[in-house]
Amino acid sequence: MWTPSLTRDAETTEKAAEIEPMLRRNIPFNTIREQDGESGNRIMSTKEMLTLDAFEEASEIVKNVTANTELIYSEYFSNQTGNKVYLKPENMQVTGAYKIRGAYYKISTMGVEDRAKGLITASAGNHAQGVAYAAKAYGCKAVIVMPTTTPLIKVERTRGYGAEVVLYGDVFDESQAKALELAETEGYTFIPPFDDLTVATGQGTIAMEIIKELPLVDYILVPVGGGGLATGVSTLAKLLNPKIQVIAVEPQGANCLQVSIERGEVTTLPSVNTIADGTAVKTPGSKIFPYLQKNVDEVITIPDDELVVAFLDMVENHKMIVENSGLLTVAALKHLNVRNKRVVAVMSGGNMDVITMSQVVQNGLIARDRIFTVSVLLPDRPGELVKVSTVIANAQGNVIKLEHNQFYSTNRHAAVELRITMEAFGTEHKGQIISALQEAGFRVKAVHTNLG
Ligand SMILES: Cc1ncc(COP(=O)(O)O)c(C=O)c1O
Repeated sequence: MWTPSLTRDAETTEKAAEIEPMLRRNIPFNTIREQDGESGNRIMSTKEMLTLDAFEEASEIVKNVTANTELIYSEYFSNQTGNKVYLKPENMQVTGAYKIRGAYYKISTMGVEDRAKGLITASAGNHAQGVAYAAKAYGCKAVIVMPTTTPLIKVERTRGYGAEVVLYGDVFDESQAKALELAETEGYTFIPPFDDLTVATGQGTIAMEIIKELPLVDYILVPVGGGGLATGVSTLAKLLNPKIQVIAVEPQGANCLQVSIERGEVTTLPSVNTIADGTAVKTPGSKIFPYLQKNVDEVITIPDDELVVAFLDMVENHKMIVENSGLLTVAALKHLNVRNKRVVAVMSGGNMDVITMSQVVQNGLIARDRIFTVSVLLPDRPGELVKVSTVIANAQGNVIKLEHNQFYSTNRHAAVELRITMEAFGTEHKGQIISALQEAGFRVKAVHTNLG
């Protein structure tokens, strides 16, 4: 169950009154642009990025394209963790992720001539759709270079936002090199996915919305791939209230920020391995790294199997589809060693294809013992199968798969193996079913479940 609106207590109202005039300070957009000396008619942004002024400007501008992703109070996660947990549902943005913020703000700072020449980027993920959508909203051309291996659905969706898709390269690095080459030859402006102060400022508008809505927030959890989102969110949070703790969350198999912060320098991982594709990044951005070093309070890493559990938690308790990268912060809620704090988890995206979704659901059910397999050894004589199924039925197990192996033992008359995969209500019920089988005299062993 979730409650869409928030009730403000007296303390919150007081803090809001203190912060809101600061947030409302309107700076006219044209004061931050000036004529470019060389061309005379090129308007360039000279604004310093990742400052309060820039964040305020970006927050107004991105409203043209963002959905109002109000915080959702989570009774389920609050009860589970002993904190007041709120979710920032960026999976509800029109392209299914927060990425339009940075792309749209970046375009807004470009001169008219550059916009007319068009934009380019390389991406097979949310950044592709973010740039495509933002460019369309601004009425400019967008070229997206995607690896040739990109699933057709992603290509079609990006084209659907009006972008021209160039399929090039077997791996992302080759696509990126092509995009940079086309930027050079065609005069397109390259929109980096994360290592750009303007893009990061755009992404940071998420923190503006969080703090306006929940001025007394204690912790903000933010996922990290290359670090653009975390740069924007952590920098603005610290500017508005240095007491807010910003926790960066990475996949355990792609912890490039954690390693870089530990070593005190930008470090490239030899390889990455995670189901969280949006955050499977080997190297954090070097331009944004100093901001991350300064403003991120802690890095938490999450193993993939916890993402699977978080996916089911979100579907069952909040009726929401959140992709693996967006689930990092949800999984991290259980790792926070604090109580009675106001915690916001940024759910950065919801783009998960249905095949991945079905695999994640199956693995999640297995992880929670809602599906499990036992091996039962039976004397090879008529009637044994009926006996086993009666015991399981009486214990309210629901058989979904049966494998009968007569060649388990060299003397097949002594024992045959039956592998039974069934549904249960959870770990306790699984134990009850296994005990019932043992009490009926069967030799039972829990084994790995393979639904393939
Ligand atoms: C859903 C989602 N979450 C998080 C990230 C990570 O963002 P960043 O690379 O800015 O750290 C991405 C990047 O593509 C993403 O798609």
